[in-house]
Amino acid sequence: MAKIAVIPGDGIGVDVTREVVKLLELIRSYDVPIEMDEFDYGADKYLETGITLPDEEIENFRDNYDAIYLGAVGDPRVPDMKHAADILLGLRFKLDLFVNHRPIKLLDESLTPLKGKTRNDINFIVFRENTEEMYAGVGGHLKKGTKDEVAIQTAVNTYKGVERIIRHAFEHARKNNLKNVTMSNKSNAMRYEGDLWDRVFDEVALDYPEMNTNILYIDALVMQMVKRPEQFDVIVTCNMFGDICTDLGAQIQGGLGIAASGNLHPGRTSLFEPVHGSAPKYAGKDVANPIAAVLTAGLMMTHLGYPEWEKRIEEAVLKAYLEKNVTVDLGGKLGTSGTGDAICENLVQAYKEELALV
Ligand code: NAD
Ligand code: IPM
Ligand code: MN
Repeated sequence: MAKIAVIPGDGIGVDVTREVVKLLELIRSYDVPIEMDEFDYGADKYLETGITLPDEEIENFRDNYDAIYLGAVGDPRVPDMKHAADILLGLRFKLDLFVNHRPIKLLDESLTPLKGKTRNDINFIVFRENTEEMYAGVGGHLKKGTKDEVAIQTAVNTYKGVERIIRHAFEHARKNNLKNVTMSNKSNAMRYEGDLWDRVFDEVALDYPEMNTNILYIDALVMQMVKRPEQFDVIVTCNMFGDICTDLGAQIQGGLGIAASGNLHPGRTSLFEPVHGSAPKYAGKDVANPIAAVLTAGLMMTHLGYPEWEKRIEEAVLKAYLEKNVTVDLGGKLGTSGTGDAICENLVQAYKEELALV
């Protein structure tokens, strides 16, 4: 039995997670052994009780669950993002989820703002290092609140941390018969970090002689993602650059309403969340696009050992899109729950046809 801890979180996280649970319940009804427990961590809980996400709960997830599904966190009533940092970054760091797995995959040509680009052109994956660098929380203030204030945010890069994400990227390329592995940093300006990433990338690449390798500065990388995305199969980069370039990646595949992601440590309890945030102005209005969340559930099904369900989910989403049974941001007229229903209906239909064939 695969156990999933579900945290809807804040804002539209709640709206889109409802659709994910609906879909997973449907899949469960086909005798797929998954079980979900819901947890109410988020801004409301924090504001009422001061609790963000206790360490014991993280240990519970680690010991008793195979995956965590998170809608989104972030609320204007908590401007310092205290609860969101404890929940999202807390899970990434404390479960050592060093791989941020973010596919950039165009489902249909009409979704991209890039002229003339096809499904073949926009089909790559970004591996963002997920536990170090600018996110390590190392730094501090001096003379805070005065005109002499100093704020220091230190990027922490360890040999082990850099090596394992780069190796993971190469392994993914090898397993999936992909040929192009691009590493991105900013070694022309950030010499210490850049030098380490350059050396480790070259060193690990020696174990994968069949790969074409390339290093692009991050400014050049984002430019090339727009200009010639077809050159990429696998991109590996540090935490901050990975955060930024995957929002751009989300746009070239159709927007934040579509972009899926996983936070992984192979073989361990991993965390799945759409790339988008809690979009507070759309919360509770039945307008948020649930597709990013639903495709994220697909990634989770593969992690749980059911890649055939990821494929079925993706096909059900594509059909909903092609039939315009989607939300307004994708040119449809449905709400969040109507879109979720359409995806579920497509899945039921396709599965029925599949069973009839065997
Ligand atoms: P956001 O992703 O929440 O929203 C930005 C814009 O993208 C929205 O205004 C909307 O136009 C569009 N959008 C995003 N998701 C959509 C969807 N499912 N359907 C349709 N349109 C969608 O980013 P933000 O406004 O910068 O952040 C809002 C809050 O979310 C902040 O508190 C931020 O820190 C947090 N955040 C959380 C996560 C996470 O939990 N993983 C990720 C990013 C941002
Ligand atoms: C993401 C988000 C987070 C990040 C924020 C909410 C801390 O933007 O998952 O991409 O920067 O990692
Ligand atoms: Mn981001």
